[in-house]
Amino acid sequence: MVELKANKIGFRYGGTKKWILKNLSISLKDNQVKGLIGESGGGKSTLCKILAGYEGNFEGELKIDKLNTNDSKFNQVQLIFQHPERTMNPKWKMKQSLDESWEVSDDILEKFGIKKSWLNRWPNELSGGELQRFSIIRALNPKTKFLIADEITTMLDAVTQVQIWKLLLSMAKERKIGILVVSHDKELVNEICDEVVYLDDINHDIKYNL
Ligand SMILES: Nc1ncnc2c1ncn2[C@@H]1O[C@H](COP(=O)(O)OP(=O)(O)OP(=O)(O)O)[C@@H](O)[C@H]1O
Ligand SMILES: [Mg+2]
Repeated sequence: MVELKANKIGFRYGGTKKWILKNLSISLKDNQVKGLIGESGGGKSTLCKILAGYEGNFEGELKIDKLNTNDSKFNQVQLIFQHPERTMNPKWKMKQSLDESWEVSDDILEKFGIKKSWLNRWPNELSGGELQRFSIIRALNPKTKFLIADEITTMLDAVTQVQIWKLLLSMAKERKIGILVVSHDKELVNEICDEVVYLDDINHDIKYNL
């Protein structure tokens, strides 16, 4: 079992005095689907970026226990962003964005509801929900060990949301991937997660540091 651990994380954006996260600890095992709920502006996306290594300027410690890191180029903690349109390279057609990560089979494309013709489109020629399906499968590289899923199905309709989560959960189980499910949607989180944490509960020190 591999575990992602963040210990006593403190963070504030450059140039601001206000702490967003303070003394926050959270962990995620590779056989675990953990929910993270918190109000808007509370710091969930900030924490996601720290966990996935996108934001290096923080206090505290981030480590992965027992991971055999023989491939240093690939980030085994993959972040699926809240806003896919901000993360796709606008100069690449979808096929290139996917190929950059891994060779996805037609079967997986089909399961995630991606039409083959979309591969030849530019990111701005797809809807938010269509684009998000690409971000999800792009993050499912066989080397991925943890998925940080930041509000990833908010822009999808209820039926598609259920369909995508079913697939993601079965793939995660099969490949032993741990998932952090970040959402406002308590019902969804309770339905799919083994355990749920509230940001306010793990970020309580913030109150005393404003
Ligand atoms: N680049 C930045 N520079 C300065 N402040 C920022 C920056 N990005 C976010 N913030 C601030 O940090 C706080 C936490 O933002 P964050 O995006 O982590 O919240 P969130 O919990 O993900 O919210 P939401 O549920 O709306 O997505 C907010 O007050 C936000 O205004
Ligand atoms: Mg957010």
